[in-house]
Amino acid sequence: MEINLDQLQKLADEELNGVKDAAGLERFRVAYLGRKEGKLNAVLRSLKDLPEEERRVVGPRANALRQYLEQKIEEKVRDLESAGLSDGEGERIDVTAPAKRLSRGHLHPMTQLMQKAIVIFSSMGFGVVSGPEVETEYYNFDALNVPKDHPARDMQDTFWLDVPGLLLRTQTSPVQIRYMEKHKPPFRMIAPGKVFRNEATDATHEAQFYQLEGLMIGKDVSLANLKAILEVFYRNLLDDQKLKIRFRPSYFPFVEPGVETDLTCFKCRGKGCVVCKKTGWIEVMGAGMVHPKVLENVGIDSRQWQGFAFGGGLDRIAMIKYGIDDIRLLYNGDLRFLKQF
Ligand code: DAH
Repeated sequence: MEINLDQLQKLADEELNGVKDAAGLERFRVAYLGRKEGKLNAVLRSLKDLPEEERRVVGPRANALRQYLEQKIEEKVRDLESAGLSDGEGERIDVTAPAKRLSRGHLHPMTQLMQKAIVIFSSMGFGVVSGPEVETEYYNFDALNVPKDHPARDMQDTFWLDVPGLLLRTQTSPVQIRYMEKHKPPFRMIAPGKVFRNEATDATHEAQFYQLEGLMIGKDVSLANLKAILEVFYRNLLDDQKLKIRFRPSYFPFVEPGVETDLTCFKCRGKGCVVCKKTGWIEVMGAGMVHPKVLENVGIDSRQWQGFAFGGGLDRIAMIKYGIDDIRLLYNGDLRFLKQF
């Protein structure tokens, strides 16, 4: 009997190897484990006719073989499924069936916004330039006339790298310096890009965000020009031709005079609401006339040339434009959020 079981197992292994589809597998199962004609079942059934001693040996062996075959059949089912052949008719490909629609991605809302900003400024003759995200202390601070003891340089605001003098740029303003070192005025350019600040994250603050920098230098470029240009920019960016901007005096070490730029509140259109904290205005950007010291730092004669610079966050604008109430949504990569744009 024992020899028979060994032979049976060998036979079963060989046959199972030859099984090519679900129907064949079912035939195999019936042939070995089937209640009526199954070869193994016949053995199990005949156990009762065996002498006690033999039964003790053969019984467990036969049961083990049944478990073995059951497991082999399960494995085969999985093999056939993964090979795509388990429908019992072999593989069928309907070459006339319409193709599955590939779901199409799209640009991130921040990228869309940046591209729109670039189109608008290009239409006004501004070139688009970029600079490194890992910056030197010189470009990020010194050349921009930021005093050595300015709190912005402190650890809690700037991500300093292990290499002395290197940092993640905290603003896009260093691109002004890099650009002016290489170009002679007159010129006008914008520099959109990522900046980094070591700040606590909340609904309106992220450790990385986008800024848009701008610079225009000529013989008689003035704040009036800046105001006109920014008005065109924001009106087109936010699709609101009635939108107004205003300047408020402010301080930035690289401009003199310096201003803050406000937009009429998109929500209440200036009447005053929670978004604008009842002021009717929303602060969007710093700007001013480029400080003579900055021009001298890059070797431009400040008695001959003058112009404006501006820089502000783009995330805030995206939040306004798309009605997003938490800046962190822009960076956590959640497709349920991103698919809405
Ligand atoms: N870099 C400033 C900031 O991050 C913004 C800024 C202010 C940029 C005035 C300018 C400027 O170019 O003229 O807060």
